[in-house]
Amino acid sequence: MKIIHTIQELRELLHIWRAERNTIGFVPTMGFLHDGHGALMKAARQDNDRVVLSVFVNPTQFGEHEDLEAYPRDLKGDAKLASSCGVDVIFAPTPEEMYQNPKAFVDIVDLSNTLCGVTRPIHFKGVCTVVTKLFNIVQPTRAYFGEKDAQQLAIIRKMVKDLNVPITIVGVPIVREADGLARSSRNTYLSAEERQAATILYKSIQVGKEQIKIGMPASELISSMKSVIQGEPLARIDYVSVVDAETMQIVEFIDRPVLVAMAVYIGKTRLIDNFSYTIGR
Ligand code: PAF
Repeated sequence: MKIIHTIQELRELLHIWRAERNTIGFVPTMGFLHDGHGALMKAARQDNDRVVLSVFVNPTQFGEHEDLEAYPRDLKGDAKLASSCGVDVIFAPTPEEMYQNPKAFVDIVDLSNTLCGVTRPIHFKGVCTVVTKLFNIVQPTRAYFGEKDAQQLAIIRKMVKDLNVPITIVGVPIVREADGLARSSRNTYLSAEERQAATILYKSIQVGKEQIKIGMPASELISSMKSVIQGEPLARIDYVSVVDAETMQIVEFIDRPVLVAMAVYIGKTRLIDNFSYTIGR
């Protein structure tokens, strides 16, 4: 497995692979890989002739007071896991390689004004911009994204559709710890006590999954999920919301496919989780 740091060198390799008519699977990440990323890489390995993984902590998707500097980085550890999942090449550019005083950006309206977009107003513009850049650099056949970042996945699907980007987007289910906590690079910020408290997100999801089946309107569902979370003293709710699975707009009646999503601070660490629901499925 190769590790490449420049766009030029990656393009030269990809040029050869394309000339050989290989399909290319692409897994964009910010590194500090865990089993959730493992599932993305394995899915890419299964579906494609070649697999490209990017590891880039993208500065444009972090707000001013967010954790850009503190975000965990470990390219050596990432290379080990990537190689065991069958990745052919890691693209790990520097911020200078990716951005030189940029003036052009990609943004999306409406889908980014709910859920995480409320607390993180510039986040999805940064994500859309870097993902577009990475798509243009790699030009993959398929690209893989985790369902844990469900709003990001919906936004990328819509961006690709609206801009006629010729790439198939594949969503991969959430990978959880034995106690239900969704795998996330940010779990590493949690103290032992906070790690225990963080299981409250999944507990509220379990309650939500039971209650949504009996036809509760969204507002009641949200209240009962919130009251589970409020029982944990270390937890502070950012949002618990029910949105249309495609448009990401708030719904009251669960009469279409929905996403039930939450962001909760455990101490200073902001964690997200969600589940999808369609009546009769
Ligand atoms: O999901 C992530 O890790 C990032 O938002 C992504 C898609 C790699 C863009 O930086």
